[in-house]
Formats: sequence, structure tokens, C-alpha cells
Amino acid sequence: MLIAQLTDTHIRRPGSLAYGVVDTAIFLEAAVAHLLALDPRPDAVIVTGDLTDFDDPQEHARFRQITAALPMPVFPIPGNHDSSAGLLAAFPEIAGRCAGGRVNYVVEDLPLRIVMLDSTVHGRPHGTLGAEGLDFLDRALGAAPGTPALVCAHHPPFLTGIRHMDVQNLFDAAALEAVLRRHPQVLAYTCGHVHRAVTTTFAGLAATIAPAPAHSVSLALDPAAPPTFHMEPPSLSLHRFAEGRLVTHRSFIGAFPGPFPFFGPDGRAIAG
Ligand SMILES: [Fe+2]
Repeated sequence: MLIAQLTDTHIRRPGSLAYGVVDTAIFLEAAVAHLLALDPRPDAVIVTGDLTDFDDPQEHARFRQITAALPMPVFPIPGNHDSSAGLLAAFPEIAGRCAGGRVNYVVEDLPLRIVMLDSTVHGRPHGTLGAEGLDFLDRALGAAPGTPALVCAHHPPFLTGIRHMDVQNLFDAAALEAVLRRHPQVLAYTCGHVHRAVTTTFAGLAATIAPAPAHSVSLALDPAAPPTFHMEPPSLSLHRFAEGRLVTHRSFIGAFPGPFPFFGPDGRAIAG
């Protein structure tokens, strides 16, 4: 079973560039083409926030239009550039899974349960799950203690060393850790927000940030570095769940030379 993770697509209205530089729709189109070309194709796509740049209905509509080519289900949660209400208005089928205006829901349709959490704080860049989100997570995991689970939100609950992002991460990380440690069937936590592929541990679990399909936050580990971005090679995360283990691959979006065989027709390594 394969789950693709798109994040931080930052779709703008037609004719508008993110930060005056990035035509994010072209990058999302490339990501969709990449997902369609994968063999085997992912069984589902999770989108961990910042679908849009300004939560504009036209931006949400454009995201939906571009991703409509995907034949597998798409499961989004909002990021700080979106809003809970804006996302639910754009995804009525997701709204039907949620209660109370927050985008907290569980994907039950797959062998791996996926808990999608709304970490947005309206109008602010940082995140919190709040008592409602933490209680939702605790109850959702408690309802199926024997089924492996992946927990997703937009904000990382750990420091990356990129200071201008670290000051706007998940503020109630300690409370999240306490909930996760009560449920040993959770395999991993994954998120977005930082526009870079990052791996660590959190609450004794694998914890990843998925890379961006468009602009990457600069890898600036000097605490005094200003907030900037680079146009690094676009990529996404591919989570493979098999035999009870979740393995996360980074899949670069684009056309690259290859595949080249290691072995010739005689079965021997090609000497050159
Ligand atoms: Fe973002």
C-alpha cells in the first residue's frame, strides 16, 4: 500500500505568482503528472496543508481543478495559509467527515489508519491542536488500538534548526506527545510547513516533514538568517506500508535520465 504526501502547494489565482516568483500551479500540475506516472500508483494522496497561498475560494477551486486528474482519493488538511472553513467549503466530501468546524477526521478505508488533524490557528502562522484536536486524536486512536496508524498535521512538533520556521511550529507539542505515547499502534507522525524533507523522532515515533513540490524554505541553520526560499528540485513523500512497517521515500518530480540497467543480457554487471 502506497500513500503519496503532497504539501505546501500554495496555489494562487491564475496570473499570480507566489512571492512574485513562483508559478505554483505549474508545479502542482507536474506533481499530479508524476503521481499518475508512478507504477504502482499510490492508493491515496494526503495533502498536509497550505494548499493555497491566501485561502481564496478561487485558489481552492484551482487546486481542485488541477488535482481532479488524480483517480485515487485525496485527503487534505489546512495549513496556516488556508483556513479550516475555507478548506471545508472547497471539499464538501471532507466536511462530511468532520464535526465542529475543525478539519479532524480519520481515513478508515485503508489497511493503515490515517488520522488527519487540523493544527491551524486562524490568522496566525504557528499551530496548535487544542483540547478539541488532542481529544479527537486520543479517541480516534483509542477506537482501533490494534490497527497501525499514521498521524498527520500541518505543523511540526519539533525544532528543525531553521529559526524563522521553528518559532511558528506546533505550540502544544508536549500535549501531543503525551497522547501519542498512550497509543503504541501509531507508526509515524508526518507534517509539512517547512517545505523541506526532514526526518527525526518524536514521542518515540518516526517523524517526517514532507518536501515541497514547488519552492523550498532555504536550508539556513544560522539563527540570524533571514526568511528566504530556494527553487530546489521539487519532490514529494511516498509512504509505503507493508508487513506492519511504514517506509518513507522521497520522490523527485520531473524527468531524469534513466533507467539504466546494472546488468547486461549475460547477467553480469555492465563493465562500461
Ligand atoms: Fe507552506
